Amino acid sequence: MEGEGGAAFRPREMGVGALVRKLAEEHALMSDALERAKEASKRGDISAVSRELQAIDPVFRQHIADEEAQILGLLVRELGRQGAAEAIRVFQQHQPMYRLMLKVKELASKPSEELREGGDSLAELFEAHARAEETRVFPVAAALGGAERSS
Ligand SMILES: [Fe+2]
Ligand SMILES: [Fe+2]
Repeated sequence: MEGEGGAAFRPREMGVGALVRKLAEEHALMSDALERAKEASKRGDISAVSRELQAIDPVFRQHIADEEAQILGLLVRELGRQGAAEAIRVFQQHQPMYRLMLKVKELASKPSEELREGGDSLAELFEAHARAEETRVFPVAAALGGAERSS
């Protein structure tokens, strides 16, 4: 994904198995932060919302860079675009999800119903996205990564 107003993140150099574990750890970390941001948006604690979203911004962008370059790269290389269709579909959520995060950050200038709703949708969207990756994308990538290494 193109960084919005920041330097592009380069993919991290690690094997697929280690990368998939790292990505799952980051899901847990980001999910906790988004949950805290959601609760803070309900309380009208706008500085906490901003702080939580600011803290995960670089994690999120590095994470997406790795998913799109390394995970999707591997799936397309091994399975073709047809075979990688599920991952392509799931990864298409990255841009709208990141844009929603920026929008919630902007909304966190004052407490509002829109901010509460934004915080809710963001946390919900992220949960569903992370679950789809962990159940339907990462296991395929990990299996192919192992096969690629041993062939
Ligand atoms: Fe993702
Ligand atoms: Fe992810």
